[in-house]
Amino acid sequence: MKRYNIAVVGATGAVGTEMLKVLEEYNLPIDNLKVIASPRSKGKEITFKDQKYTIETIEKGTFEDVDIALFSIGSSNSLKYVPQAVYEGALVIDNSNAYRMDDDVPLIVPEINPEFIKEHNGIIANPNCSTIQMVMALNPIRKKHVINKIIVSTYQAVSGTGQKAVNELRKQSQDYLNNDEVKTEVYPNQIAFNAIPLIDKVNDNGYTEEELKLNRETQKIFNNKEIKVTATAVRIPVFYGHSESIHLEFDIPVDLEEISYLLSNDDNIKLIDNPAENEYPTPLMSEETDQILVGRLRQDLNNEKALEMWVVGNNIRKGAALNAVQIADYVIKNNVIDGGQ
Ligand SMILES: NC(=O)c1ccc[n+]([C@@H]2O[C@H](COP(=O)([O-])OP(=O)(O)OC[C@H]3O[C@@H](n4cnc5c(N)ncnc54)[C@H](OP(=O)(O)O)[C@@H]3O)[C@@H](O)[C@H]2O)c1
Repeated sequence: MKRYNIAVVGATGAVGTEMLKVLEEYNLPIDNLKVIASPRSKGKEITFKDQKYTIETIEKGTFEDVDIALFSIGSSNSLKYVPQAVYEGALVIDNSNAYRMDDDVPLIVPEINPEFIKEHNGIIANPNCSTIQMVMALNPIRKKHVINKIIVSTYQAVSGTGQKAVNELRKQSQDYLNNDEVKTEVYPNQIAFNAIPLIDKVNDNGYTEEELKLNRETQKIFNNKEIKVTATAVRIPVFYGHSESIHLEFDIPVDLEEISYLLSNDDNIKLIDNPAENEYPTPLMSEETDQILVGRLRQDLNNEKALEMWVVGNNIRKGAALNAVQIADYVIKNNVIDGGQ
């Protein structure tokens, strides 16, 4: 079997660290592994499969011997370094927002639209974490029924902002409980014991970038410009696991039993829906599984053609690292690139 040279770019970050774990679990045929981060981390060591690797920085020629580069270094850094990686011959799987809506860049969730992977021109984009868990939950439903409209409110964990935000929530919580001064650095407002209804920058139309991503990325992944998504994205003081309250509108009356059947027959989804016994998905549960958790299914009180659901997903794994490694796995198994040896 061919073996491939893989680079993890952003290997010290929240997503990069998880990516290394997932790469171990998936056991991809890796010949050479490069672990790359910023100059701050240069020379530090990390362990992968019981072997020590030294963190490198991006230099001219870094990607010349790389087959697949998994990037998680934020949009501005991706805009700077992804073109170099492509020029030097690597296939880039990018976790940032930089290239997701480019016409010649496939935006991939492997369980949903793998057929577009082969159309890459050197870059494949990983969708935003809140989009991935939503489209995963809707996929079995939209295969059977036309979804006209989605209204979604998100409750997003701080790990979605990166490792510094995880540290900030921990520190602010301790300081708040100790009656010490609470300092804000990553977020503009205190996140501990609070909720911040603004994620990413706000546009002239009042929507934030995070909210607009849910609209445009869903349309691109489902290859359907007709599906309308309106979102409110909120950051909450949870470490891991994004939650979403989703309202779906159809052309025909909803048959809840059928929807439950469709969801429970999808291996990527776990339906936990027995509210009378306090059984419903919570973000803590998502730390233990790669499945998308769905519960609180119910018909809209005032519209028989609409339903409500609650969706929880692991933002770092299926929302980022796992999805990216699954794309790499598909690329390798389907000989999408030359290279490897
Ligand atoms: N967290 C999530 O749930 C999530 C979900 C989907 C997508 N994403 C996307 O994934 C990307 C990374 O997110 P994250 O949460 O992992 O952030 P993070 O924890 O802040 O990590 C950022 C990583 O980028 C590295 N880096 C920064 N500047 C660099 C440079 N000039 N050259 C090379 N490496 C550099 C950092 O290295 P140092 O440690 O040396 O600074 C670190 O490894 C972002 O684009 C984010 O939007 C995140």
